[in-house]
Amino acid sequence: MGTRGRLIAIEGGEGVGKSTQAALLASAIGAEASREPGGSPIAERIRDLLLDRSLGVLAPRAELYLMLAARAEHLSSLIEPALAAGRHVVVDRFAGSTLAYQGYGRGLPVEEVRRACDLASGGRWPDLSVLLDMPRDVAKRRRAAQQAQLPGVSPDRIEAEEPEFHRRVNEGFREIAADDTEHWVVLDGSASASEVAAEVLGAVRARLGIGVSR
Ligand SMILES: Nc1ncnc2c1ncn2[C@@H]1O[C@H](COP(=O)(O)OP(=O)(O)OP(=O)(O)O)[C@@H](O)[C@H]1O
Ligand SMILES: [Mg+2]
Repeated sequence: MGTRGRLIAIEGGEGVGKSTQAALLASAIGAEASREPGGSPIAERIRDLLLDRSLGVLAPRAELYLMLAARAEHLSSLIEPALAAGRHVVVDRFAGSTLAYQGYGRGLPVEEVRRACDLASGGRWPDLSVLLDMPRDVAKRRRAAQQAQLPGVSPDRIEAEEPEFHRRVNEGFREIAADDTEHWVVLDGSASASEVAAEVLGAVRARLGIGVSR
């Protein structure tokens, strides 16, 4: 005890395996697992509001600041107390998604989004963000397989955006990671879940020195 826990974010576009890898990593290193938007009761309510397609259009800035309200709540109720107690936290999406979706995807000025993230989180940024990337055809095949498994589940408000939106998001993620190699690692998510998990764990060990048996 005495040392602060580390915050690790698993990032990427739709269906690249974020939730799968966040859960595997959290259990491998004994971290708390959480997700965004959401992660606390109030933040999960904000998530419902953000992803509900039946409500129609939401202005990009309203979307941004709702995401950030959820983040501030998630940080203060779950993430900061865990880190302060020396526990690591693995989040399925975090600030990288805000930059990629609300900045590159929605077209809000990326510098505004970055400043707003910084204000909302009290300057807290992940110690490491892992970007799961994969060729577009692999992502497409996975989505088709998933849809066959869960017929009748309709995409949420953001998933339902046009392909061009998702292309901008994916490009944005690559640019964000390339511009900040100190805090980002990019991994190919197209291998099997256990192979990707081994790579994620390897990166976390190499970058943060954790996940080595404690
Ligand atoms: N390495 C893998 N190989 C093949 N299929 C995978 C792999 N990882 C995850 N999957 C499957 O692909 C689908 C998407 O995975 P997952 O839900 O983890 O992705 P996600 O990035 O969290 O998606 P979303 O953006 O919808 O939250 C699921 O059906 C999952 O079982
Ligand atoms: Mg997921």
